[in-house]
Parts: sequence; structure tokens; C-alpha cells
Amino acid sequence: MRKQIVAGNWKMNNDLAESKKLAKQVAKKVKEGKIKDTKVIIAPTFVSLASAVKATKKSRVKVAAQNMHFEESGAFTGEISTKMLKSVGVKTVILGHSERREYFGETDALLTKKVDAALAHKMNIIFCFGEVLADRKSGNQEAIVESQIKKALFHLEASAFKNIILAYEPVWAIGTGETASPEQAQEMHAFIRKTLANKYGNDLANSVSILYGGSCKPTNAKEIFSKPDVDGGLIGGAALNADDFFSIVNAF
Ligand code: PGA
Repeated sequence: MRKQIVAGNWKMNNDLAESKKLAKQVAKKVKEGKIKDTKVIIAPTFVSLASAVKATKKSRVKVAAQNMHFEESGAFTGEISTKMLKSVGVKTVILGHSERREYFGETDALLTKKVDAALAHKMNIIFCFGEVLADRKSGNQEAIVESQIKKALFHLEASAFKNIILAYEPVWAIGTGETASPEQAQEMHAFIRKTLANKYGNDLANSVSILYGGSCKPTNAKEIFSKPDVDGGLIGGAALNADDFFSIVNAF
């Protein structure tokens, strides 16, 4: 059985006190809601990681970073390494988010280095990819997604995928209020699984969790998560409110 996962990407929101409060609220709700099967992850900013780890310590909520550098240390002003993340108890990192690709010029080649570094340090990765609106309009979405996955991940040994969660996030649906329909999500997730199967075989393809991201909300999560190849969600805006986030966690 594939893992069901709901991860909250807080992006550049919440200061230290706000993050601590939200992390505690999420941990409390997950505990009280007796969530057992769904893996719950929150990703605050670097500043709040240590406090979020502490705030969720007695719960099953895990804390992820939103980014990292591929080197372990050195003259890289403003960057954070896997070693630093692990030193505060963070073992998961989001890589390849469309905002990193678009606003910070992260390329497939750079992401390959980050993926390799994260795996070398035994981190888990939530690897994001997805097409922009123009690609969707021209019917190129599958070719784009296939190329993003192949370039960053297909040099890996099959065993590496034990530590990788995939997140399909159509860029036109992120923060726009526009969501891929459950059918569009399913169609793409099935394509992603087929792409994995072609390279690594069916067993591996069937073992990797593929999350949907892009304006996932309490009102649409249940329908999207009900699709056979959708194993959960990467949630932005709706992860900033504990009630909304919890009702998405509870949507399975
Ligand atoms: P959104 O963001 O839920 O606000 O659309 C999703 C994401 O960027 O991961």
C-alpha cells in the first residue's frame, strides 16, 4: 500500500511565534483526530524549523524544509545545508517547487545536484514539478512533466525512490484558486506512474506516493484524493489555517 501524505508548504509566511502556534495547533488536531494512516508534514521557513520540530515532537507530524543547498558548508551566502537541517531534526526537504524554478532560476541541472545531495545525506525529498498554463493550452503538459522528472530523477537507482515523494503541481493552479479537475489530476498522475513504470518497473511505480498540489482546499480535497493515483496533497494557502489544513488531512 502506498503512503497517504498531506504536506503543508507554508512558503514565506508566519514569523517564529506564528509558526510555533500553527505547528502546535496542527499537532493537536492530528492527535485528537486520531489520524493514523495519513502522514502529515508541515514546511515552515528556515527560521522556524527548530521551533516547529519542538512543537510537534510528541505528535506524528513531521517537519520539512522548503529548500536547501547541495553543498555541506562553505562560502554560499544565504544558503542552508542538509547538515544544518538535520542538526535541528529536519529530515525532509521540498525540492523543485515552481516558485523556486520561476523566481530563483532553479534549473533541472541544479535540482539534480540538490536531489543527489539530499539523498547522500539520507534526507527524504518531496520533489515538485508541473507545467505552466501555456504548456497545458498547447497540450504539452505530459512532455514537460516527463522531462522534469527524467532530468532530475532518472539517473537514480531504484532504491532511491524509497526516500522520494513526488508532487505534481500544475503551475497554473498554484495560488490562483484554479484547481486541476480531479480527472485532470488523475490523468496526469497515471501518466507519471506509467513514466516511472517504463523506467523502473511496475512494483516501484506502484510504491511511490504522488501528491497533487495547486489550490487544494477542504472543499475539493476529498474528490481529488479519491482518485486512484492521487496519494495526497501538497497544500499552500490552505495549510496556513489549522482547521482548513486538518480538514484536508481528514479528507482521506
Ligand atoms: P496553493 O499552493 O495550495 O496555495 O495553490 C500549493 C503549493 O505551491 O505547494
